[in-house]
Amino acid sequence: MVAEPVISCANVVKRFDGRAVLSGVNLDVFPGETMVIMGGSGSGKSTLLRLIIGSFAPDEGEVRLFGSSTRGLRGDALDEVRKRFGILFQSGALFNSMTLYENVALPIREHFDLDPHIIDIQVKIKLELVGLLEHADKYPAQISGGMKKRAGLARALALDPRILFYDEPSAGLDPVTSAQIDHLIVDLSKKLGVTSVVVTHEMDSAFTIADRMAMLDKGRMLKVETREWYDRLRKAPDADAAALPEDQRLIRQFLRGDPEGPITDRKDLGLLQRTLLGETGPTVASMPSLTPTR
Ligand SMILES: Nc1ncnc2c1ncn2[C@@H]1O[C@H](COP(=O)(O)OP(=O)(O)OP(=O)(O)O)[C@@H](O)[C@H]1O
Ligand SMILES: [Mg+2]
Repeated sequence: MVAEPVISCANVVKRFDGRAVLSGVNLDVFPGETMVIMGGSGSGKSTLLRLIIGSFAPDEGEVRLFGSSTRGLRGDALDEVRKRFGILFQSGALFNSMTLYENVALPIREHFDLDPHIIDIQVKIKLELVGLLEHADKYPAQISGGMKKRAGLARALALDPRILFYDEPSAGLDPVTSAQIDHLIVDLSKKLGVTSVVVTHEMDSAFTIADRMAMLDKGRMLKVETREWYDRLRKAPDADAAALPEDQRLIRQFLRGDPEGPITDRKDLGLLQRTLLGETGPTVASMPSLTPTR
């Protein structure tokens, strides 16, 4: 029997100022899997994540969480669902005036009326999971960017979430720290059995952590497939790639970071380029000289 998806997006459309940022997106995420959402800048990754966590509602289509529609979900009912989420935002979103310990304890105190001793154990388990127990009494300003990410993760874990959401978890980290975060994501998924949804455009990271991958392009979901499928596409030789459908060639270019291919072919000439090429505005010859006159 196939398990029910914990997250299900069906024909989701989201518009900002009349422009569709997500146009008819379908995505199912199953219990315990790690789904990586990829796509270029502005393709709609963060918007999709924010729709799933209920920051705003879709204009069309439906988001289902744990088998129930989120349509019309507000206030306490939405909070109940959100309690089952752990979210790691890009910045880590820690409170600077609180120690790491206090940062992790806060959501637990807010949501549960527990004995301080129980809270203490919970906080220490979470900090230990991300390897920061010995730094519990430090303030965010006293730790590195990578440690902040891990502290943010400990806080995301505070309420024992069923689903963990990560938006660009390794952005701005050095390669080794970034690999450590990947390792931690895999480790948590194994140890806690949580479902993870990770937005990233770091390909090494994506292929390390993903069970399945989803590629967004200009608000369109091109493909949701296994990591193995994506890996085969990434490694497909040029000779074979030429015969692939346009969407797959586009994904392949993205995965490989190739400078030429369908993504770059369709790009409009930028305004600067048009200006320099003389299609609009002044030509290069009539541009002001940068040579000092005195
Ligand atoms: N609140 C908003 N109001 C208006 N436009 C928005 C809003 N949020 C996002 N957009 C637009 O929607 C598009 C998709 O944005 P989104 O943040 O989802 O992209 P992304 O794939 O996460 O990109 P990046 O990799 O740069 O983080 C962009 O063109 C963005 O300008
Ligand atoms: Mg984003």
